[in-house]
Amino acid sequence: MIPLSIAQIAQITGAVIDGVADPAALVTGPVVIDSRQVGPGALFAALPGEHADGHDFAAGAAAAGAVVTLGTRRTGTPALIVADVPAALGRLARAVVDRLPDLVIAGITGSAGKTTTKDLAAQLVGSLGPTVAPQNSFNNEIGHPLTVLRADADTRYLIAELSARGPGHIAALCQIAPPRLGVVLCVGNAHAGEFGGVTQVAAAKSELPQALPADGVALLNADDPLVSAMAATTAARVVTFGRSAGADVRASSVSLDVLSRPAFTLEMPDGVADVALRLHGEHNVTNALAAAALAGQLGMDVSAIAAGLSAAVAGSKWRMEVTERPDGVIVVNDAYNASPEAVAAALEAVRVIAAGRPAYAVLGRMAELGERSREFHEQAGMVAARTGVTGLIAVGAEAAPILTGAKAVAGYSGELIAVPDGPAALAVLGDRLQPGDVVLIKASRAAGLQTVALALAAGGSGGSSPRSDTAGGSGGPSPRADTAGEVAP
Ligand SMILES: Nc1ncnc2c1ncn2[C@@H]1O[C@H](COP(=O)(O)OP(=O)(O)O)[C@@H](O)[C@H]1O
Ligand SMILES: [Mg+2]
Repeated sequence: MIPLSIAQIAQITGAVIDGVADPAALVTGPVVIDSRQVGPGALFAALPGEHADGHDFAAGAAAAGAVVTLGTRRTGTPALIVADVPAALGRLARAVVDRLPDLVIAGITGSAGKTTTKDLAAQLVGSLGPTVAPQNSFNNEIGHPLTVLRADADTRYLIAELSARGPGHIAALCQIAPPRLGVVLCVGNAHAGEFGGVTQVAAAKSELPQALPADGVALLNADDPLVSAMAATTAARVVTFGRSAGADVRASSVSLDVLSRPAFTLEMPDGVADVALRLHGEHNVTNALAAAALAGQLGMDVSAIAAGLSAAVAGSKWRMEVTERPDGVIVVNDAYNASPEAVAAALEAVRVIAAGRPAYAVLGRMAELGERSREFHEQAGMVAARTGVTGLIAVGAEAAPILTGAKAVAGYSGELIAVPDGPAALAVLGDRLQPGDVVLIKASRAAGLQTVALALAAGGSGGSSPRSDTAGGSGGPSPRADTAGEVAP
């Protein structure tokens, strides 16, 4: 962060300075919501958690070097007191952006692929100059300002992930850090329940192109009609990416290796070059094209982009992580996120990896699909059956309609198993997995199947009880602190 005094931060955020704080004391960053990440110069933002209240950790934060706590009440330590901590973080972030006129800001939104595209883009753009991008999926009214606040006078590029749970959210995030470039990946059913339907999701995503200035660039997916239609909503110049003929940045000659890693010819306005991604799943071609289009607009040439994409690794965990166990079982951990489109993409990747060998899919619930949740789960089961999985394991009551859907597919003879929880899924797999078999673990993170995936990847099966990663926290403000900054379907 650029250094600001407590008095300046109070003025920016409208905070009241608590008596014990020295108005001249300088905050140099980091700005954090997890007291374990506090270091000298930090601002500790206290948020209420599900199990703990950040204010209770203010003393620990001060002892670890925090200059001040930003919270809604006195803490007995130097404090800035506001009514709404996320709103104050947003105002502070905007003030920092306003002091960095040369910072180039790009936003990325869409129903799936935001984090992957952000990670790819940050790895490309990082070669052009110092780049700030979110940790994990920090993409909401908390995570976005925390990301922006990591920028300082040395930062050239800010690559932001922008997420929404309703209308106006992306517009608000664009107010915090006005982007000059905006990428829209796709409009799907993730969060469709909260929005009311896919049309409303499209309207919300279009808030990004609408926020762009006339000298900005809207980067739109040519393969998704709801996205390409957003060209009409923006004042910015439009650049398209996708598989479609006519896209400004496109992929041709796409092929997949035995682990479903795509290779393709990248075609850009300045030339063509070959790419071999290290990411798994054909859906990542779109994410790579989006990152390429963004980097191209920032001045990177096609050969540097192709080399960068071919070297890029997954920067965030539990997205299509493929582990080949010593015993020959291949575990695909895609347990971070699930929406109907993402489940279909992951199943397709597993079909390619299995190449006719036995494949099992452990599917948990897809969260936040609203009234049509049951129907979407049934459809996911149909997709799984059509890809021919050997066994389909539905975890938990909400995921059970997956099996109903699979059953309805004529001629499908795979094994259909309902289990109540992760340990039961592990037990089922322990009895069945043989060397060379492929197993996919996919659900919304709230379903907690990452513990199953981690146990499987480590070679555990047969009913060993997976460790809960929220149990026994070691002194942070709340077990929510590492995910409070993001919206995940
Ligand atoms: N372009 C895409 N189309 C369909 N599914 C995708 C796409 N990109 C990613 N996914 C799926 O969505 C999951 C989440 O990807 P991620 O990059 O974290 O997206 P987001 O940040 O938008 O939630 C991935 O594990 C993958 O299964
Ligand atoms: Mg994300």
